Amino acid sequence: MGVRIIGTGKAVPKKVLTNEMMSEILDTSDEWIYSRTGIKQRYISTGETNTKLCVDAAKDALKDSGLKGEDIDLIVVATITSDKLTPSTACLVQTEIGAKNSMAFDIVAACSGFVYALDIAVKFIKSNEYKNVLIIGGEVLSKILDWSDRKNAVLFGDGAGAAIVTNDESDYITSINCVSVGEKAHTLTCNSLEIKNLYKKHSDDFSNYLSMDGKEIFKFAIDVIEKSIEKILKEENLRFEDIDYIIPHQANSRMIDTIAKRKNYDRNKFYMNIERYGNTSSASIPIALDEMNKKNLLKDGMKIILIGFGGGLTYGSALVNWKK
Ligand code: ACO
Repeated sequence: MGVRIIGTGKAVPKKVLTNEMMSEILDTSDEWIYSRTGIKQRYISTGETNTKLCVDAAKDALKDSGLKGEDIDLIVVATITSDKLTPSTACLVQTEIGAKNSMAFDIVAACSGFVYALDIAVKFIKSNEYKNVLIIGGEVLSKILDWSDRKNAVLFGDGAGAAIVTNDESDYITSINCVSVGEKAHTLTCNSLEIKNLYKKHSDDFSNYLSMDGKEIFKFAIDVIEKSIEKILKEENLRFEDIDYIIPHQANSRMIDTIAKRKNYDRNKFYMNIERYGNTSSASIPIALDEMNKKNLLKDGMKIILIGFGGGLTYGSALVNWKK
């Protein structure tokens, strides 16, 4: 029993926030943001919910796959910014797309979320439990940003990306490897709700904005991207030259410049679109995958490495042998 991606989709809010617009509200500049990160603009919700973005991305992926909502057996949404604590975003998506025969749940693995969801999809399919799985990475990160904190506010954007994974006689998704490094949890955090009840009063120190140690994450990311590529090449008995594209989580172009230079990898094989979207956490890999799919950059037989990394800390990678 094998597994294959048969459709992709994406959705972003209407509002574009450029670096120039950002510099009108914060002490920052296009020059600083672009030279440090590669970001020029990002999409920001003016009311579009995470559910709406996930539903739009899911419908786009269904259309691309030729399947209907009722064909879907499982929906996994990866998100750190769900609209509600309950119901899950996946259950809300289920209703909107008419996936009445599916099981649906959310997972939290930050920027590795899409690869984690892919791993879950592959395992459910290979166990013969389910045939068609919809996986989505969706975020409205703008709601967990402190808009007076220039260090974080300039980095992130909102959006959702989706893929339909199905069973196949041959295996097109191999070498999936997802890792969690809880001991580094403190380097990227965002609180949920405060404990506030008849025994515990509100504390002025409580914040539920995203906070991160950028330098630590930068080092972590470089290390795990390099490790992930090397592990896949070894497991699959391939050379870097055999890989057509790498789709890394879109966190910072400088990370990719550093890796390409250090390892002497062809920089052009790393697909980057951070310039237009910013860092959309779990949505960044499926948005990139969909963009490549719709631009016809992906041809049957191509080998693509996906690599996610982020809060948890977590990381995950997979080799996708493209066949549509
Ligand atoms: N505009 C202008 N100046 C700024 C800005 C800004 N937006 N932000 C920070 N600065 C200033 C700082 O105050 C500092 O000034 P100082 O030297 O006077 O103190 C200076 O610029 C340098 O700041 P650094 O934080 O040292 O900048 P650095 O080069 O490390 O870049 C960045 C920061 C872009 C965050 C980088 O560390 C990075 O990309 N880290 C990885 C982020 C990441 O990948 N996160 C993981 C995924 S996110 C997730 O899982 C949800």
